[in-house]
Amino acid sequence: MGRVFYKQIILNFISFFEYWSIIGEGENMKQKVKLVSVGHYLPEKILTNADLEKMVDTSDEWITQRTGIKERRIASSGETAATMGVMAAKDALQKAGLSADDIDIIICATITGDYQTPSTSCLIQKELAAKKAFAFDISAACSGFIYGLDIAEKYIASDPSKRVLIVATEKLSSVTDWKDRVTCVLFGDGAGAAIVEASNDSSGILRSELNSNGDNYDLLIIKAGGSKNPASQLTLEQSQHFLEMQGNEVFKNAVTDMKNAAVKVVECSGWNKDDIKLLIPHQANIRIIEAIRKRLKLKKDQVYINLHKIGNTSASTIPIALSQALEESRIQKGDKIVLVSFGAGFTSAGMTIEW
Ligand code: COA
Repeated sequence: MGRVFYKQIILNFISFFEYWSIIGEGENMKQKVKLVSVGHYLPEKILTNADLEKMVDTSDEWITQRTGIKERRIASSGETAATMGVMAAKDALQKAGLSADDIDIIICATITGDYQTPSTSCLIQKELAAKKAFAFDISAACSGFIYGLDIAEKYIASDPSKRVLIVATEKLSSVTDWKDRVTCVLFGDGAGAAIVEASNDSSGILRSELNSNGDNYDLLIIKAGGSKNPASQLTLEQSQHFLEMQGNEVFKNAVTDMKNAAVKVVECSGWNKDDIKLLIPHQANIRIIEAIRKRLKLKKDQVYINLHKIGNTSASTIPIALSQALEESRIQKGDKIVLVSFGAGFTSAGMTIEW
């Protein structure tokens, strides 16, 4: 009896050990997913703070002090979210040495798509002639690029043969009320794109943290044009097709949510502040970025900022900044990178990547 009992205990111990070895192996064997290339596109037209002084009751001094923005790009009338997205995608394909035939999935993050339907990703797919790719849009406002990366990572983890093109593109000038000084000084147009595939070494996405809080949906909103308030004479008269914002409340939530998301992914990755080569935050306001930098105890050169030249391009800010940082050789293989964002919804997201 005693011998059988001890034998059972030993067998239980062995199966427990085997179970944890398999789980542990599973963690280590998790397919890593990497960004092969990042591209961007910016329209030629530059709108400076001096130009805005002629349009609304504002000043270069106020805009610079309160936001950090000096100028932003504005799309021409012929340019749209899709056409800019195509340009950014072509840049990413060319940098990766790939063609549109190599893409299996196109995810487009935008809140200013060309149409309510069809999706902007389908227009991009057509223009690229990415015949074998299926395409869909996501609406996560300024967090859209990180949401898209996270979806791509999970998809490739389950089918490592797939390659995903993520395009973030915004023509915010088309939903900006150029008479509202609170919003019109903030936004700009542009697009960024990344190609994502299975990694064959230690490089790739490490951790991601996505959050949404619909309680505050009405603090940053385009009220009309959807099924709740379809376009009408009244909605036009009341300027409800423009982006409206409760700036102060958005600001407070952005600081808290971006700080939390950044701290969480950095801690979960087991990194300390000196490990981080570059933080690439959503470029909405220099004071928000400074608050996050201080919370993470980073030096100024550990944070990438292009806000002064480009303004807030919603979903596009992070891939544009990533693309520029790579072009400027601010990121090298093996570097530890943190992305963090906040946007309408509210949505927020953080991600760590070993390049
Ligand atoms: N020029 C001059 N004065 C302006 C102005 C402008 N462009 N915009 C607002 N003001 C005025 C306001 O009317 C107000 O005047 P009052 O005190 O006489 O009423 C004063 O400046 C302060 O306004 P307030 O809204 O409190 O300013 P702020 O310091 O919060 O800065 C934002 C405003 C919009 C720059 C800031 O709230 C912000 O960046 N919010 C978050 C934006 C954001 O991240 N949005 C997108 C998220 S993805």
